Amino acid sequence: MKHIILDVDTGHDDAVAIALAAGLSDKITIDGLIATAGNQIREYTLENTLNLSEALEIEAPVFAGSTGPLLRDRVIAGNIHGKNGFEGPVFEKRKKKECMGNGIRWAVDHVISHPGEVTFVSVGPWTDLAVCLKSDERFASSLKEIVLMGGAVDHPGNVTLSAEFNVFADPEAAEIVLKSGVPITLFSLDVTLKLLLTEEILERVKSLPDTRYKRIFLDSMGYYIPSIMRSNGEMPAMHDPCTIAYLYDPSIFTYSYRPISVETKGDKTYGKTVGGKEDKNSNIKMGVNVDNDKFWALFFKAINNLV
Ligand code: RIB
Ligand code: CA
Repeated sequence: MKHIILDVDTGHDDAVAIALAAGLSDKITIDGLIATAGNQIREYTLENTLNLSEALEIEAPVFAGSTGPLLRDRVIAGNIHGKNGFEGPVFEKRKKKECMGNGIRWAVDHVISHPGEVTFVSVGPWTDLAVCLKSDERFASSLKEIVLMGGAVDHPGNVTLSAEFNVFADPEAAEIVLKSGVPITLFSLDVTLKLLLTEEILERVKSLPDTRYKRIFLDSMGYYIPSIMRSNGEMPAMHDPCTIAYLYDPSIFTYSYRPISVETKGDKTYGKTVGGKEDKNSNIKMGVNVDNDKFWALFFKAINNLV
């Protein structure tokens, strides 16, 4: 069983990652969710995470994470994910409440009390993870693995030509994470942009028996597809879900071991993830290729387990 802390900025693709983790509970347990600022302000990403967790009957606690980056001015992606960060689905009045207390303190205590057992998955800006790493020196050595969505190594960025959103939103945090020495598996744009939703997949979802998640997925994609089409001219990439698919079946991807660091000084290249040459001794492996058929087979396996 893989125990994960899932740090999100729910958002449309974060929501697919959360659903994937919830539907793959034969191998993955969500120990806790932390909502951070990113796609939208934390108030909205927390609301979205709580709404989705309740709709999917996820029992894991949901904590509030960081309200913004360590150093730079806060950037959000309302232009892509909409005013509330997860435009499309409409949720009933919710009973689930955020778990009181600081999500970062909880994460540090949880990881330290379960040495070698917990994987930290970050699919928004990596601010919360960086603060955990800086809060207690035992955190890094107690972690089993770090799995990240973010960066663009040999591929142009999606915010600037240099930088991808999650890293651009907090480059200083990203540098702290990549320098932590913890085993890291990174899903950057280099591989996530090879995994696009297709009309055929959408039609297959529409043909499924009616469930809460089917409605949430279709309502969310009803907003997200035209939004991404306007922005990039293509169907949405399954950025964040790559992290969960990897944890369930690493064979879905191929990898390259690379030293990777973040440009935090350049004004034109601020937030660029800079990759060195292939190095088997690097503690960072990045996804390179993805087997789309295997991913989507896993996606349908997961959502068939959801309410
Ligand atoms: O660049 C893609 C990343 O930015 C994804 O995590 C998406 O949710 C947004 O946060
Ligand atoms: Ca995200």
